[in-house]
Amino acid sequence: MNDNKILKVSSDETYKCIKEKSNENLNLFENIIGYEDVKKIFKMSLNSDKPVHILLVGPPASAKTLFMLEFLKLERSYFTLGSHSTKAGMFDYLFDYRPRYLLVDEIEHMPYKDQTSLLSIMETGILTETKSQKTRSTQLKTWIFATCNNKEKLLSPLLSRFIIFHLKPYNRSKFIEVSNGILLKNDIPSDIANEISEVVWKRLKSKDIRDCIKISRLAKTVEDVEWIAKTLNQYRK
Ligand SMILES: Nc1ncnc2c1ncn2[C@@H]1O[C@H](COP(=O)(O)OP(=O)(O)O)[C@@H](O)[C@H]1O
Ligand SMILES: [Mg+2]
Repeated sequence: MNDNKILKVSSDETYKCIKEKSNENLNLFENIIGYEDVKKIFKMSLNSDKPVHILLVGPPASAKTLFMLEFLKLERSYFTLGSHSTKAGMFDYLFDYRPRYLLVDEIEHMPYKDQTSLLSIMETGILTETKSQKTRSTQLKTWIFATCNNKEKLLSPLLSRFIIFHLKPYNRSKFIEVSNGILLKNDIPSDIANEISEVVWKRLKSKDIRDCIKISRLAKTVEDVEWIAKTLNQYRK
């Protein structure tokens, strides 16, 4: 990931990013195909003097996590999974390192208690925590970028503090464009890449780009693609 050094700080998918470059020339979003308008708004948010929080809501494999990983390139960014906010000590991290960008993937799994703490950070920048009858408090300037599959488990005051983008499932032409783009980038020959994208959409009736990536790892020829698709179809539920 560029010149950034990513340290895996624990085994629970929480990473911290130590950057050695400024936020310019980061090739932010270089790994994401399409979504040019969404990328533009994210860039506007990054250029804003005051935090603008953004939530991506969308079906699986719509590049939500990919967006969060791109933001790890930013200086003073911190990535965590909603389900790990307490376990990974997200609030200790916020107090200790005061990140400028907090990236929460799958925020719908964040416990309500932690969602409530986010409300205050998002509105006023004030972070408060009460532990063992002791309260500590600090002021932060932190942008929150988050993702979720399903908004229903999120507190409505939390939702109202975000700009929300609903990513739609890919249509056929977008699916083929994204799939081919990824496969070509992974050095899959174009005839095989094309075949995989078409077969996954048409024969497997899948809208999941991950299926294309899986087949691309198995197939060495166009015939392999055909055969794998036929076999997968036979064993489908
Ligand atoms: N627009 C896109 N550009 C590049 N890769 C994509 C795009 N959409 C999906 N993918 C690929 O699909 C897979 C799933 O993406 P991910 O960000 O993990 O999805 P989500 O978090 O929305 O479930 C990844 O391998 C990713 O590279
Ligand atoms: Mg994801």
